[in-house]
Amino acid sequence: MMANHRELLRKVSIFAALSDKELDVLAAGTVERSFEKDALIVGAEDPGDALFIIGAGKVKVVLYGESGREVILSVLKEGDFFGEMSLLDNQPRSANVRAIEPTRALVLSRDAFHQVLRGGPQMAIPILAELSRRLRRADESIGNLALLDVYGRVARFLLDLGKHDGVQREDGLEIRERPTQQHIAAMVGTSRETVSRALNEFQRRGLIEMDGKYILLKPGFEVEGAGQD
Ligand code: CMP
Repeated sequence: MMANHRELLRKVSIFAALSDKELDVLAAGTVERSFEKDALIVGAEDPGDALFIIGAGKVKVVLYGESGREVILSVLKEGDFFGEMSLLDNQPRSANVRAIEPTRALVLSRDAFHQVLRGGPQMAIPILAELSRRLRRADESIGNLALLDVYGRVARFLLDLGKHDGVQREDGLEIRERPTQQHIAAMVGTSRETVSRALNEFQRRGLIEMDGKYILLKPGFEVEGAGQD
C-alpha cells in the first residue's frame, strides 16, 4: 500500500525531486480516500488539516454566492494538489472543493506536510512555483473581469480552451467536448442565459460553428473582435 502511495507521489510534479526516504515519510502520513461525483471534499471556512493530491478524477475550486450562484476559481485534475493554503497560513479553507468526477485522492496530514517542508527546499520550491502559477492565473482572471465585457470573457474562455484541448484544422480550431453553458458561466462570472446569448451571437456573426458538444473557432475569432461595451 505504502509503496503504491510512494509511486503515486513520485508522479506529482511538486514531489518529483524528493528522495525515496522523503517520499516514504510523505507516504506514511498519507491515507487514500474516494469521493463520488458532486461530493464536497473541502468546505469553505472549515478548519484545514490536510493536503489533497488527486490520484484520479477532477475537482472544481468554487465559491458560492448568497443565491447559490457559483464562481469556479479553478479546475484541478490528476497530479494536482489542493488544500495547501490552510496548512501554510493557518486560516480556514479559502474555498470549496467539489468533485466533478468520481475522484480518488491521497490525503496528507498537516504534520507530514510540515515535516517534509522543513526537510529542505526540494518540495518548497516547486510548491512556490505552483502557487505563483495560480496567482498569475488569478491575476489574469481579475484583469479579464475588469477589462473585458462578458462576451469578451466568453471568447477568451473558448480561445484558452481551444489552445489547451483544441485540434488545429485548416478552417479553425476544433473543440470536441465543449463544457456546459452552466460551467462556462461559472468560469467567467455570468449567468447561463448570457453565455447562451454570447454563443448565439458569435455563431450568427460566423465567428464560431457549434453542433452539440462540438465547437469550431474560426480563424477570425479573437477576444478584441468579440464585442466590447
Ligand atoms: P485551502 O484554502 O486550504 O482550501 C481550498 C483550496 O482551494 C485552497 O487551499 C487551494 O488549494 C485551492 N484554491 C483556492 N484558490 C485557488 C485558485 N485560485 N486556483 C487554484 N486553486 C485554488
